[in-house]
Amino acid sequence: MKIVTIIGARPQIIKAAALSRAIREHYVDQVQEIIVHTGQHYDDNMSQVFFDELQIPRPDYNLHVGSATHGVQTAKMIEGIEDILFKELPDFIVLYGDTNSTLAGAVAAAKIHTPIVHIEAGLRSFNKSMPEEINRIVCDHCSTLLFSPTKAGFDNLKREGFPIDNEGPYNIDNPKVYHCGDIMYDNSLYFSAIAEQKTDVINRLGLRDKPYVLATIHRDSNTDQPKRLGAIFDAIVKIAEEHPVVLPLHPRTSKLIKTNLSEQFQQTIFDSANIKLIPPVSFLEMIQLERHASLIMTDSGGVQKESYFFRKPCVILRPETEWVEIVKTGAATLADADKDIILEASQEYLRQSPANYPEIFGDGHAAEFMLEKMLELCH
Ligand code: UD1
Ligand code: UDP
Repeated sequence: MKIVTIIGARPQIIKAAALSRAIREHYVDQVQEIIVHTGQHYDDNMSQVFFDELQIPRPDYNLHVGSATHGVQTAKMIEGIEDILFKELPDFIVLYGDTNSTLAGAVAAAKIHTPIVHIEAGLRSFNKSMPEEINRIVCDHCSTLLFSPTKAGFDNLKREGFPIDNEGPYNIDNPKVYHCGDIMYDNSLYFSAIAEQKTDVINRLGLRDKPYVLATIHRDSNTDQPKRLGAIFDAIVKIAEEHPVVLPLHPRTSKLIKTNLSEQFQQTIFDSANIKLIPPVSFLEMIQLERHASLIMTDSGGVQKESYFFRKPCVILRPETEWVEIVKTGAATLADADKDIILEASQEYLRQSPANYPEIFGDGHAAEFMLEKMLELCH
């Protein structure tokens, strides 16, 4: 079986590590993987670091599209991916998540009848002002094999009319949907022991055995709106009066802090000894930071889940989430960009950490499950 895997943004590069590892360990004689990096993320600490650290094979192609408006960026990717699909003629194209790289892969492949495998299918925020919501809906509806990490995702697809008990042959008009667990859970289990051996970010930041809060912010709905970005940082400044707050800053956020917060407020943030603004960290460093944090605040999809994997309470800086199960367990709270709710939820979690983290993300072998199903379909 020959697959073309499309990656481009940080979380997709990390996710690809799990599938590539499963191929290397169990299916090397049966599966040929061609990796295409769209170049959506390109800074070393948003891309190369993950190849070096997570043993992901070097991409066979890099489209180097870089940053641009949604239309320009996606169009360049579609053009490049179409060329590669014509040349490689794979059995499947594998697409992860909901970024512009996912959308481009879906549009390019569906039009020339390359069957699409969508990993992380079915997730919905029910908020179409998010670019990701558009991307994931289009991708799901162009796919032949849909792997949903959660029951909620599987149920969303059922509600949208995807067939559930259908028989093959499977194709874009008769797709096959599975609920199979989360590939990032595979990765978190695999890399957490390695993270403790290979990184010392905790010591470097002087946080060993100290309670601290880990925060990430990068959603356009937060970074691009001065009022929302300001409210989140107001809450962070307040929390930092008592606890160190570590913020590995996404490049989008570093840029927009400068334009969307007043100079005086920026100075307050930079002067606070307890607010540690640092460049994006590697995945192993991130895992170590997550495992030792007392609380995690984030608008990231991946970081919400990792909080749960590592049994840490999470304040979600969004009005809604695709990962509804973790909110239902009480381990995460939707605080939006509301300073009072962020503070209230944080104080509550810092006073008493939730104890209940039922298994909702599978058994850590989602990648093997997906490869088995792809191989079945291919033969
Ligand atoms: C993208 C995804 C988002 C995902 C996130 C993961 C879309 C529409 N959005 O958002 O779903 O959660 O990646 O991190 O696909 N930049 C750099 N260096 C880089 C990459 C980006 O400086 O290596 C800066 C540029 O100013 C760029 C901005 O970050 O304009 C945003 O990058 P972009 O890839 O467009 O969107 P993200 O916000 O990263
Ligand atoms: N991550 C990382 N370094 C960082 C911040 C995040 O390695 O400085 C990892 C994080 O552990 C998770 C993934 O990046 O696995 C999440 O990516 P991001 O928050 O950029 O995007 P999202 O998941 O929201 O699409």
